[in-house]
Amino acid sequence: MKTTTRIVGITLGAAATAGAVGALGLVYSGWYDSSATSPHTPPVNHVMDIALQRSITVRAADISVPPLDDPQRAINGFKLFRAHCVQCHGAPGIAAEPFARGLMPAPAALVDTARHWPAAEVYWVVRYGIKMTGMPAWQYRISDDDIWDVVAFMKVLPTLSPAEYRAWDIRHARAAPPPVPPATPAAELRLGDAEAGRKAMHQYLCVTCHAIPGVVGANRHVGPPLQGIARQQYIAGVLPNTPANMVRWLRDPLAVDPMSAMPDLDVSEQDARDMAAFLYTLDDAR
Ligand code: HEC
Ligand code: HEC
Repeated sequence: MKTTTRIVGITLGAAATAGAVGALGLVYSGWYDSSATSPHTPPVNHVMDIALQRSITVRAADISVPPLDDPQRAINGFKLFRAHCVQCHGAPGIAAEPFARGLMPAPAALVDTARHWPAAEVYWVVRYGIKMTGMPAWQYRISDDDIWDVVAFMKVLPTLSPAEYRAWDIRHARAAPPPVPPATPAAELRLGDAEAGRKAMHQYLCVTCHAIPGVVGANRHVGPPLQGIARQQYIAGVLPNTPANMVRWLRDPLAVDPMSAMPDLDVSEQDARDMAAFLYTLDDAR
């Protein structure tokens, strides 16, 4: 009995090792075609679709949907849709922009999605985005209330013919510029939260320019590494390193130093506070 157990154990171990070596071999051989012109095979695509759908359904299960029937909600949602979504997803009678046609997976035409998906799931996808596709997370750029307005418009979308969509375009959008995200009133701001700040680092592209301990991202950097920033005397060599100055720098670096290569990223006051709180956890010497 004992010998049998040992043989089974050794066999399983050997199989696992062979599998791991095989997988490593595939990774290093360059066998996988990562181009955006080679789709997944139908079975892989099918499995990934199911995994994505389940991932969304499970996470959206506890979201409570506010009343969406107010026509004003759909109109505001339409303006946001026109400013942020139609470029990729198109609309009745309107094709997606050239850059979006080169995406893999291709952005779905949303009429069918809007007809069949529960509102909470649409909200979830718009707020959090979909990893490894072109679908962005809008959480940091569109307020929660406005995301629900987009969802309200998505309920109207399947009812619009191309001519009706064009009529909405003329009636509601041409006159008004897309709304700017509302600033959070000072009374509602909370103290910086380092964990929220760490997450926000991805959403403002900080990782594309800085090596930041604890934040995974691109590994070619045009800015200084942020390791040990908490101990530094000056921010960017010009501002005394205080929490208030850090928030100021993150919100508008060009106002501090017009020659800086760090761009203005439209960072909100709250997100700047959170990111500053995170940056002050980076106190190891470089
Ligand atoms: C840069 C391109 C891009 C932009 C901008 C964009 N999306 Fe997407 N979206 C995608 C891609 C790619 C997918 C994933 C593939 C797909 O459609 O299933 C996706 C998926 C979705 C899905 C799931 C659709 C489904 O049936 O699987 C919804 C809903 C959605 N987007 C809504 C929106 C809304 C609303 C906006 C605007 C606030 C928006 N998207 C902006 C590219 C984009
Ligand atoms: C396009 C590239 C780019 C992006 C995106 C960017 N930075 Fe920077 N950042 C820079 C450069 C370049 C500097 C050096 C600026 C200078 O000295 O004028 C810098 C400087 C800094 C400094 C001061 C570093 C020091 O050693 O004094 C901090 C802190 C910082 N960035 C944080 C951030 C955070 C947080 C984000 C995201 C909200 C961000 N950066 C996004 C390029 C970028």
